[in-house]
Amino acid sequence: MTRASNVLKVKPHREDVHTGIPAADRKTIAEAISGILADTYVLVIKSHVYHWNVVGPLFQPLHEMTEDHYQNLFEACDDLAERIRALGHTAPLTDRQVLGDSAIRIDKTAPTAGEMIKDLIADHEGLCRKMREAAETAEQKGDFVSHDLLTGRLTYHEKAVWMLRAIIAD
Ligand SMILES: [Fe+2]
Repeated sequence: MTRASNVLKVKPHREDVHTGIPAADRKTIAEAISGILADTYVLVIKSHVYHWNVVGPLFQPLHEMTEDHYQNLFEACDDLAERIRALGHTAPLTDRQVLGDSAIRIDKTAPTAGEMIKDLIADHEGLCRKMREAAETAEQKGDFVSHDLLTGRLTYHEKAVWMLRAIIAD
């Protein structure tokens, strides 16, 4: 029987899973998903701060759209992190691991509504490019679950780009 004191000493660790994807491939895919998770988490925060601060005639559509985005992206972070765990790897643990890998910056101190939209479009498009590459890698390595997850996320981000562009079309 496991002693209670030992139960408390178990730490997060890699698992050697035998689901038909070689260890090296699982590592490659887990790392790719970690990068996507970092970008997704930073985009949660950016969508939220823009939700709070948008002003002007675009307030209503952008306030509502960013709310949909940060809620959807937050749930996606969970799916992405849990996929990393299912691949036998640890999900990011430190702030540096969760956010540090991200290519997305939140550095505009007083953006206009138009600047917010253009900034969000660039971030969603960047995530699409990263996901397309990772989805392709996952498929090549026989990881159809990650491929499916990333394809679903791509669908969301491409739709987000379309809707954001539609707001500022002239
Ligand atoms: Fe709100």
